[in-house]
Amino acid sequence: MTTALPHPYSRVLYVGPDLQRGSFAELFQRQLVAARNESALADIADTTEGYDALWQIVRASIAAGQLPLLLIDLDPNSSSPYLDWLRSELQQLAGDPATQAQLLVARGNAAAVETLDALIEHRESHLDCVTVAPLPGAHAWSCIPEHDYRVLLCNGPRCTRRGALPLWKALREQLKAAGKLECAGGVHITRTQCQFPCDQGPTLSVYPPGAWYQVQNEEDVRTLVQERFVEGREVPALLMRPLLT
Ligand code: FES
Repeated sequence: MTTALPHPYSRVLYVGPDLQRGSFAELFQRQLVAARNESALADIADTTEGYDALWQIVRASIAAGQLPLLLIDLDPNSSSPYLDWLRSELQQLAGDPATQAQLLVARGNAAAVETLDALIEHRESHLDCVTVAPLPGAHAWSCIPEHDYRVLLCNGPRCTRRGALPLWKALREQLKAAGKLECAGGVHITRTQCQFPCDQGPTLSVYPPGAWYQVQNEEDVRTLVQERFVEGREVPALLMRPLLT
């Protein structure tokens, strides 16, 4: 038996990555079932692998007249441009302004399921899809940056166990202090999942040329930043294997 919804929506969808698999999903689903019931699990749209499943649910809801429909955006990396994009996709799916007015989006927090009821009832914080800001065509994030290098620091499970997490902060601070952080001629840094040579980690790779380093502590990070990116010379002691020439 489904309970009556305590709000004006015919359906509420919970949209974001990592909502179907993994520890975050387990916690989220457990709390959602406690706050609603088992049937709420059918309203989860996991975007880890893409958005096709979400569009399918939205199309089905429109076809079945399950409107108004509220999508709660639970992506922890959400941003204004992301919401604009999501709403513009929904706008196209809806087609006519009357349907666009019945597709609404709100920002939520998957780690705080207890706040979602209040969010659902707080209509002022819901955005419809009738008028959506056009996606920017020429902002900084649409240009290829002028960094010379991309550095990938593994924060996968085994590198994390080997001490990788605090190295991210150290890497960022050291590059910033050296004037090399995400600027022309500098270094763009990204955290990654497993890069595979786990037993030699924490793993840090540099492109170009595609070199693999083992950075075990902050001193290694300091050495790498100074010698590799400031002085421009190789750091053989930190290389996992000699570079191919
Ligand atoms: S977890 Fe870092 S390389 Fe596998």
